[in-house]
Amino acid sequence: KKKPMIHDFYKMKKEGHKIAWLTAYDFPTAQFAEAAGMDMILVGDSLGMCVYGYPGTVPVTMDQCIIHCEAVRRAAPNTFVVGDMPFGSYQIGDEHAVQNAIRFLKEADVDAVKLEGGERVASRIKAIVEAGIIVIGHIGLTPQSSGQLGGHKAQGRTSESAQIVIEDALAVEKAGAQMILVEAVPPEVTAFISKKLTIPVLSIGAGASCDGQLLIVSDLVGQFTAFTPKFVKKYANVAEIITQAMRNYVEDVKDKKFPTDEHCYNMLKGETEKFNE
Ligand code: KIV
Ligand code: NA
Repeated sequence: KKKPMIHDFYKMKKEGHKIAWLTAYDFPTAQFAEAAGMDMILVGDSLGMCVYGYPGTVPVTMDQCIIHCEAVRRAAPNTFVVGDMPFGSYQIGDEHAVQNAIRFLKEADVDAVKLEGGERVASRIKAIVEAGIIVIGHIGLTPQSSGQLGGHKAQGRTSESAQIVIEDALAVEKAGAQMILVEAVPPEVTAFISKKLTIPVLSIGAGASCDGQLLIVSDLVGQFTAFTPKFVKKYANVAEIITQAMRNYVEDVKDKKFPTDEHCYNMLKGETEKFNE
């Protein structure tokens, strides 16, 4: 498998081939994603919840994001890897945002960075793009500013709110972003945006009428158990499988059924007698 480049995704949009995108935070999971034929991997700041157990994404730091990007890059050298800019890494100013975007490329060799917001981050997007870095926009429900949105709520469900989402999409493209993610927005609005924009439009909880889909791996495999958003399709229940495996191990230890001979390193031939002298 050859690593796709940004122009491959433009071609896919043109030809109507859908882009498959998934988050991953660690080496084994990223290996599985590449083996499964994933087009893109997002090292999302959702790692705050999925890996570290924070209540949200706000506490996540640049250093955490970089460390997880490095692991994912090592595991998936032939997949388009996107680093997610955490809260505080691009809010302060254009220059600070460029510095942090550069860290993602220099330290973790990602292919692109993603940041949340439309109109209000246009100058950040422009500055990072001018530094030669591929930027992916993220509009609709933006978890880092969910407080302002009144919680983790779908956006664009009234025509007034839809207008804001559409204007954000246009602002992100105009600023130079080369792809855009739309989160928790009605399919009608996403369809309109997909037609209007030249850049590929990806959806998480924003319907099928766009150029690709994103899911959080911990939701997809059934590893994150705190809650499941409406837009998730659960393809497996690894929480159950792993817990059952661990339960079986506890039982075996308590019942003295593990280890058995087959798990032991026996002494070499003839050595046992000497040892027992
Ligand atoms: O961090 C992440 O995984 C994301 C998705 C929820 C869109 O940004
Ligand atoms: Na994120």
